[in-house]
Amino acid sequence: MDRYAVIGHPIGHSKSPLIHTLFAQATGQAMEYTAIEAPRDGFAATVDAFRAAGGRGLNVTLPFKLQAHDYADEVSERARVAGAANALAFDGAHCRADNFDGVGLLRDITVNLARPLAGQRVLVLGAGGAARGVLQPLLQANPASLVVANRTPAKAHDLAEHIAAHGLGVGVLRGAGLDELTTLGAFDVVINATAASLDAQALPLPIGTFAPGALAYDMVYGQGLTPFLRQAREQGATRLADGVGMLVEQAAEAFAWWRGVRPDTRPVIDQLSVPLT
Ligand code: ATR
Repeated sequence: MDRYAVIGHPIGHSKSPLIHTLFAQATGQAMEYTAIEAPRDGFAATVDAFRAAGGRGLNVTLPFKLQAHDYADEVSERARVAGAANALAFDGAHCRADNFDGVGLLRDITVNLARPLAGQRVLVLGAGGAARGVLQPLLQANPASLVVANRTPAKAHDLAEHIAAHGLGVGVLRGAGLDELTTLGAFDVVINATAASLDAQALPLPIGTFAPGALAYDMVYGQGLTPFLRQAREQGATRLADGVGMLVEQAAEAFAWWRGVRPDTRPVIDQLSVPLT
């Protein structure tokens, strides 16, 4: 049976084995999908051992996405721009890398939440790994503007410049500090890519950040109504979403990449969703 796994550190919380097992059942694919915890300093050795045992593909999560990018022989354009990979495929001695986080987010927003991004004012909060993976795909959706705002402004400026160096986002993408948000007007779509929700912390978002009817999207999942989502609702956002749809959509992209068949995501999203209350 073909073997796949998710690799990370820690990995106990991962929903990927459940998601891929449900996909395999629904599509009739004979495959096994497990979770592997690699030592922090042992990513490459653990991947090598998995391949030697016949492994066909891996999903990669924190803290190994940058190393996965460097490990591969062939890297997709979007993984190269992100500088990070979240999926590997092994074909004999050849290893390919891709990054499905951005396309997963995009599908969740535009298809599942039925919110087109073209012409919209979009704000991404945070400039770490989670933000990095989604800027290029967001730009491809043709927003009117895309601001990446971070507590440490220099990191947001660096990230915007990194994307611009690939010839992307000119005149649309800009970096900013969170403290500049008072001057940047309202946004139609606000995406929280900071780690603040994991610590149950609110962000210093000024009144007026959310346009009336805005979509507030928190990339974390399984936490219910996070401080960010609560704040968004209080400030006029009418559509709230957590990251469960992004998680399932990126998994479906990886599954299709490996197996050549795209599973239906709706039943899996419904099964994993928790109420945002
Ligand atoms: P990840 O790979 O999950 O994005 P990361 O690279 O550590 O993790 O980045 C975490 C992001 O969350 C950063 O943008 C960080 O802001 P700083 O660059 O200023 O550190 C942001 N972050 C974490 N906790 C935060 C908080 N309490 N308020 C605001 N931003 C926070």
